[in-house]
Amino acid sequence: MCGGIAAYKAVDVCRRLIDAGAFVSPVMTRGATRFIGPLTLSALASEPVRTSLWESPEPIPHTRLGQSADLIVVAPATARLIGAYAAGISSDLLTATLLATRAPVVVCPAMHTEMWEHPAVSENIATLRRRGVHLVEPETGRLAGGDVGSGRLASPDTIAAVVIDVLSGRPADGATGAGQQLVGLAAIVTAGGTREPIDPVRFIGNRSSGKQGYAIAAELARRGAVVTVISSAAASLPRPVGVDVVAVETAADMEQAVLSRSEAADIVVMAAAVADFRPKAAAGQKLKKVDGPPEVILEPTTDILAALGARRRPGQVLVGFAAETARPERAREDLLRYAREKLASKGADLIVANDVAAAGVGFSHDTNAVLIVGSEGLEIDVPLATKEAVAAAVVDAIIRRTANPAAPSTSKSVHSQETS
Ligand code: CTP
Repeated sequence: MCGGIAAYKAVDVCRRLIDAGAFVSPVMTRGATRFIGPLTLSALASEPVRTSLWESPEPIPHTRLGQSADLIVVAPATARLIGAYAAGISSDLLTATLLATRAPVVVCPAMHTEMWEHPAVSENIATLRRRGVHLVEPETGRLAGGDVGSGRLASPDTIAAVVIDVLSGRPADGATGAGQQLVGLAAIVTAGGTREPIDPVRFIGNRSSGKQGYAIAAELARRGAVVTVISSAAASLPRPVGVDVVAVETAADMEQAVLSRSEAADIVVMAAAVADFRPKAAAGQKLKKVDGPPEVILEPTTDILAALGARRRPGQVLVGFAAETARPERAREDLLRYAREKLASKGADLIVANDVAAAGVGFSHDTNAVLIVGSEGLEIDVPLATKEAVAAAVVDAIIRRTANPAAPSTSKSVHSQETS
């Protein structure tokens, strides 16, 4: 806990973690003790509060805390703490503990809007993100002194949920460092259905909600990737923790946003439902009913996934989606055929296919069922599950590619039952 008015909320975070079964060792900076009495936390927590490198019962408290922690959460994290951590400066027990740990770290910033938006803080945050630190972004709301803006500590519920997610994302054997298999990699995820204007009022769109793309983006970020979502659903979905969102509307916007960033991306997931055709010319003025039914001439858009497939660099993992309608009695066979065709025509590594006509699957549902098909014969069946669980299966398949892109997964069929 650092010194900030939001420290009172960290007491609630502590309580929720204890209620969830965690063993909590509180560490407070000197500043934090100005806002909350250490007694408040020690009465709640599993261990006495530590505030100093020098007045601790054990000789080297930071190494013991750092080595024994399964996770460290800093809430609230001040601009000073974020700067010191990014620069590797250990000037007190908290910063020393952060440098002395290999456990996942969750940083929850809280500060005034001007400070949160200062380039120094932004760059330090980007540095921490690149190193795999999990960030619980501050919210917009009332700040100390009555100002309103972004910088308010996220809610204790959100922070506790992120802590639990990070802990449960840990692979069973712990071999890859707390589920952070994608640290150092950059990912782009597209999400939502594009809108192609007919006139200033009307557009050609589709039923994609963007939820599956957002779930994949959140999962990639949880596994340590630096993630950018390029989305036509930015206005309707909450921004996933630690993910940058670029809002777009048309297929052309999305093409420009993706292709200008794809060179630097290690992973590109085209989850968006991109229009295949757009009106050749959008009317500048609203079309009036009295003028009769308009004739709308369509022209093809660029196939972004195919363009990525044609220009991709070695090692880049390219994932496409296929929203299909299959014959009920031949659903898997149809899906597999469509997915294999798209895999070849787009030059992707993986195609995530779903039968959008099946119950609970695809557009606007919170659940999905997919068949993940890989370029070397890989087949993974993910039965009906939440979009988050499907995202975890997709990211697992991506990780297998990034870890060893040349791995011969030849003609091996994996019929996964992983639904959670
Ligand atoms: N896609 C794309 N650019 C487009 C159209 C689609 O990048 N202009 C991507 C989607 O994001 C998705 C995949 O391609 O990953 C879907 O393939 P697509 O050709 O759109 O499938 P359908 O339009 O359904 O093709 P078909 O009608 O041939 O089934």
